[in-house]
Amino acid sequence: MSQETVVTRNLAMEAVRVTEVAAVAASRFLGRGDERATDRAAVEAMHRALKGLEVDGVIRIGEGTQEETPMLYVGEKTGSGTGPKVDVALMPLEGPTIVAKGEPNGLSVIAIAEDGGFLTVPDIYMDKIAVGGGLPADLVTLDAEPAANLKELAKAKGVAAGDLVVCILDRPRHRELIAKVREAGARIMLIADGDVAGVVATVWPESGIDIYMGSGGAREGVLAAAALACAGGQMQGRLIARNDDEKRKAADFTAGNPGRIYKVADMVGSEVTFAATGVTDGVILGGVKRRYGVAVTHSLVMRSRSGTLHFVEAYHDFAKGANAARLDS
Ligand code: FBP
Repeated sequence: MSQETVVTRNLAMEAVRVTEVAAVAASRFLGRGDERATDRAAVEAMHRALKGLEVDGVIRIGEGTQEETPMLYVGEKTGSGTGPKVDVALMPLEGPTIVAKGEPNGLSVIAIAEDGGFLTVPDIYMDKIAVGGGLPADLVTLDAEPAANLKELAKAKGVAAGDLVVCILDRPRHRELIAKVREAGARIMLIADGDVAGVVATVWPESGIDIYMGSGGAREGVLAAAALACAGGQMQGRLIARNDDEKRKAADFTAGNPGRIYKVADMVGSEVTFAATGVTDGVILGGVKRRYGVAVTHSLVMRSRSGTLHFVEAYHDFAKGANAARLDS
């Protein structure tokens, strides 16, 4: 076994420890109605935990610019400073609102790629479409109408359009999309927040979700693409702008190629490790459970190199000295 393989395997398990710590910290604020405190707890915990990750890393997809946020900003150096040079994409808490309201699908997420491995999208929106693995390449596309995509997907899966479930963020901007999907005869699962989970769910038949459609954060799009690079599945993303500032950001980024469609390999151009821990129960992972001084976490970790997926159930005992320091219990 090559040294490199050993390193990335170990890194995968260490990456889970980072999302576990952030998820446990966020879970303390479950249903307390304070989004900012929930998010801050996850950010601070992940920032601390990352110091123990043996990489020489730079955050490429983070919490914002250095002017906007003191921690986990784009360009911040991260990790112990020793070990492989890597790029890091992270979301200490995807969906502070979810957790603050005690709703499903709150996740803590990290992806680690080689230097230059992530498409470093601006913090604007992205139109997204995603399906799971084992389907013909480019089966669905952002250039087609929902009805056409659903027809192709139903044909490929050997089911009727009415058997398909489309996951869509519950937003007024999706009113037309929702109407078109209903008109095409497919069923819909609306989610309040958390489209990384929505996209990743397409890979798991048990989720009951066949396809993800709609717009959400571009950064979330790259993180979801990292998961699909590991687990299989197809995704397309296209930057969209809602105002002049975002138009400028999108134009600068796509330089001469406006409306460009990015596929998984465009968004994640190297081997990647993806880890996520559930904060609240979701379609893929259970949330953090707190009982008698113990927190139980449910995580998954995948590597694109092997395609192997590990589900990790961990018991964190708050009374142990090492954990007291590590976990924001
Ligand atoms: P945050 O963690 O940044 O709050 O994102 C939650 C989320 O639901 C994402 O999953 C999604 O991509 C984005 O918000 C959608 O944005 P908006 O809430 O503006 O529709």
